[in-house]
Amino acid sequence: MKKIAVLTSGGDAPGMNASVRAIVRKSIYHELQIYGIMRGFQGLINGEIKAMRLGSVADTIHRGGTILLTARSPEFLTAEGQAKGIAFLQQEELEGLIIIGGDGSFRGAGVLEAAGIKTVGIPATIDNDIPFTDNCIGFDTALNTVTDAINRVRDTATSHERVYVIEVMGRDSGHIALLAGLAGGAESIIVPEVPFDLAEVCSRLTRGVERGKLHSIILVAEGAGSAIQIAKDIEELTRMEVRVTILGHLQRGGTPTAYDRILASRLGARAVDLLMEGTSGVMVGYYQAGIQVIPYGDVFANEKSFSWEDYKLAGILAI
Ligand code: F6P
Repeated sequence: MKKIAVLTSGGDAPGMNASVRAIVRKSIYHELQIYGIMRGFQGLINGEIKAMRLGSVADTIHRGGTILLTARSPEFLTAEGQAKGIAFLQQEELEGLIIIGGDGSFRGAGVLEAAGIKTVGIPATIDNDIPFTDNCIGFDTALNTVTDAINRVRDTATSHERVYVIEVMGRDSGHIALLAGLAGGAESIIVPEVPFDLAEVCSRLTRGVERGKLHSIILVAEGAGSAIQIAKDIEELTRMEVRVTILGHLQRGGTPTAYDRILASRLGARAVDLLMEGTSGVMVGYYQAGIQVIPYGDVFANEKSFSWEDYKLAGILAI
């Protein structure tokens, strides 16, 4: 293998740049030609490619976002768009492609693989909803960002003796809400994986006030419902003063944590090795204390497990 490329796709995640850096530098170390495709799968369709050199990734390891830019490409979901992307890769004589992104990106990788293009996927999404990897790149940073936000909201919540409902991202999953809730000491955590019981949330609040709590924090995953509506319902039922904070896209930005940079570097370097060995159609993840190589089929057929133990623990610790 002499010529390979890398792209980032879907929602950006802190640590994507550290992964691109590792791929570029490891490729050059092995004397491969390495190219960056801009704007994810849309860039494949539009033919946006640039040669990457050692200096192309200088000063990027600590930066959030992605220097290759990213996109959600509706066009690549069509047969016509896919044919354009495949034709471009063949025309450029690219022998392998590393795709950094979430599950939608891996489905795109699967399409290319089926067309005979060798691909390796690297899991990067703050949602952390991909199985066979403890963490996806970006999750640890987002978790720390949300935990920090909870600390800040807690200061004002205590001062005013208020209830706060904080809405976090995660799409259809509750991993950010669960672990940030555990780390931030939330009174209740509302996630899509667990049926939501408003009466139980309210009775926790009332019990808290009775034992002298000055504030309460309720963490809601976006996939479980609207923080605004939940706050209204709580106000009606408890007559307490409730405020809402929707953290939104600030969860996706910021300098990646050391954990995310290390994970991104390890997975990026391994992805290059895999292509050189002729292995493709796989995701490279980190679980069971090591780097693991998992066929796309297994990734698609499984769901990331939700930690019931942590959910129960958070509930117990917030009594
Ligand atoms: O997948 C990452 C994510 O940030 C989700 O948590 C969120 O639902 C979605 O992307 C938002 O997407 P966009 O930035 O395209 O609005």
